[in-house]
Amino acid sequence: MKLITATTYEEMCQKAARVLAAQITLKPQSVLGLATGSTPIGIYQELVREYQEGKLNFSQVTTVNLDEYLGLSPENDQSYRYFMNQHLFNKVNIPKENTHVPSGQPQNPQEECRQYEELLAAVGPVDIQLLGIGNNGHIGFNEPCGHFPEFTHVVNLSESTIQANSRFFAHSSQVPRQAVSMGIGTIMKAKKILLVASGQGKAQIVYDMMFGPVTPQVPASLLRFHPDVTVFADQEAGVLALAALSK
Ligand code: PGA
Repeated sequence: MKLITATTYEEMCQKAARVLAAQITLKPQSVLGLATGSTPIGIYQELVREYQEGKLNFSQVTTVNLDEYLGLSPENDQSYRYFMNQHLFNKVNIPKENTHVPSGQPQNPQEECRQYEELLAAVGPVDIQLLGIGNNGHIGFNEPCGHFPEFTHVVNLSESTIQANSRFFAHSSQVPRQAVSMGIGTIMKAKKILLVASGQGKAQIVYDMMFGPVTPQVPASLLRFHPDVTVFADQEAGVLALAALSK
């Protein structure tokens, strides 16, 4: 696991976006695994800017997203499909049919999970998977629990995630209680992983992920067994990990 720190959030996003842009340029038919949350927004802004400047072409790119809330329609402005459309897909020349986000309103959630795994097997492997990290160490919606979930599955969101995400909703009671998420095993199949973390609230969990025990109580800790993970952290999020590395 490699750590790249940046002085500011903006610089961190530029660095991470450069890796994604190089991937698209070198392999126009890349499969990108994408993430939602506040941290990747600056990365998507960078990619959109490069597209607008004529430096990037998304016409052959395929994307697969990590997760989606159960119960929200694609038009709901808190759904992850809506987020991706707003921040990236509507702003670049990616064909919409090449963009995949789990359905938030499947008739049968278990069947949706099975079909999403099938889709990933058909379009994959993912060339680069972008990840954020929750304060509790979740990646995607893989919450701390007694095991590392292997495949795409239905998740009951933890109270800490509901509280963290309630900032996007009028009231915490409106935050969906369930989601569909790629499993950690699914995520580990990506050829390359970029994990981004910003702000002092992430400093401890970045440290725990990199130096604490590998445990399902810190789902991101399993990434230490992946051969190609780069953690991008701004100064605040990287402070504890950087201090440990320089000891
Ligand atoms: P954040 O979320 O980028 O909004 O902090 C990260 C996550 O929960 O994965």
